[in-house]
Amino acid sequence: MVKLDVVRSANAALADGTKPFVAVVAGGTAGIGEATVRALAATFAGRGSGDGDRGFLRVYIVGRNREAAHKIIAECETACPGGVFRFYKGDLSLLKEVDRVCAEIIGIEQREADAKAAPAKIDFLVCCQGVLSLTVEESNEGLDKYFSLYYYSRMRLVERFLPLLIASPNGGHVVSVFNSSIQSSLVLDDLTLRNPRNQTLRTRFAHFVGMTNIFMEELARRNSGRLALCHYHPGFVPTNILNSSNLPWYLKFLVNYIVTPLSWPFWVPFEECGQRILFMASPARFPALEFKGTEAAAGKVKGVEIATGIDGKFGGGAYLVTKDDDTFGKEKKYDELRANGTAEKIYQHTMTVFAEIEASGVYKD
Ligand SMILES: NC(=O)c1ccc[n+]([C@@H]2O[C@H](COP(=O)([O-])OP(=O)(O)OC[C@H]3O[C@@H](n4cnc5c(N)ncnc54)[C@H](OP(=O)(O)O)[C@@H]3O)[C@@H](O)[C@H]2O)c1
Repeated sequence: MVKLDVVRSANAALADGTKPFVAVVAGGTAGIGEATVRALAATFAGRGSGDGDRGFLRVYIVGRNREAAHKIIAECETACPGGVFRFYKGDLSLLKEVDRVCAEIIGIEQREADAKAAPAKIDFLVCCQGVLSLTVEESNEGLDKYFSLYYYSRMRLVERFLPLLIASPNGGHVVSVFNSSIQSSLVLDDLTLRNPRNQTLRTRFAHFVGMTNIFMEELARRNSGRLALCHYHPGFVPTNILNSSNLPWYLKFLVNYIVTPLSWPFWVPFEECGQRILFMASPARFPALEFKGTEAAAGKVKGVEIATGIDGKFGGGAYLVTKDDDTFGKEKKYDELRANGTAEKIYQHTMTVFAEIEASGVYKD
């Protein structure tokens, strides 16, 4: 477990050292994403050079709820007057919407960079978009929209932003807030889970987790030294996710009035959750590169130990992160999946889905 005061000091060091700091928070209008936006505002508050210095922190919030976004933005601008917070409305279950939002954000960052004759960059991408659903629902792009929210849209955000992420001086840092604690289990003969037999909640989630871990690891490998990706399990954060889900009323009742109150000792407070997510932008803990030194040497990096990656190496660029910013260590099936070509198969499948939807608007398999 990384202690919260260590997390806070690493975040403060990040805010002192990286200016401007550019972050995109998808699903930033509520819950864990909102906590991340607020942690950015609180951490960067007062860190400009004064005299109306603006834009040393730029945060792009993506979601559908404009009213919620504007309330968060007003409060963050008060907390961090030098920060610039912008909202982009988009239904992220659709890849064409992901592409539109990405193009708008890239355009703005490119203009900012051109004005300062500096390279355009994004330092931090956090993906929190998600809805709980026991059922699947096909979108007009031919994908289950919940699968898209948890996996395809998130990986498409990384892929679209890649040129700007790898331009970040510390290497771009990416977080997918989902459930790194679940043991993955891939359905290799039905990658998009068309077969109703593969559509139980358990099978879907284990498959989403497996796809996420493999694609992230593959991206880290292909962009070694320039990209760090964390799959994060935030623990139990008392958000509104259950009430905005399409679960039956009795399950909502059970969780709202029995499970949630009884589990309060295990709740992770919003403020802590936001700080711990921001910590995943820390190159001292989650570097974009494998660390070749010894464990003892790594412990001397700014008082923060380098985490172990999915591949079991020290550092490495892809991490399965616990709610306390520890890592789960090596993905058990890692070596086998890489050796038997499964990792390549999943990478190619995902890129094919992206290409087909971009070209024809729909994926058919
Ligand atoms: N809360 C927990 O204890 C917990 C535990 C483990 C994992 N997680 C995971 O953490 C993530 C965030 O959960 P949360 O509890 O913060 O949920 P939440 O409070 O319901 O927030 C979900 C966010 O996703 C956005 N979103 C949902 N559908 C969208 C769509 N079609 N297009 C764009 N944005 C969309 C929502 O924005 P709009 O409404 O504005 O669209 C909102 O900002 C989820 O992936 C969840 O599975 C949460």
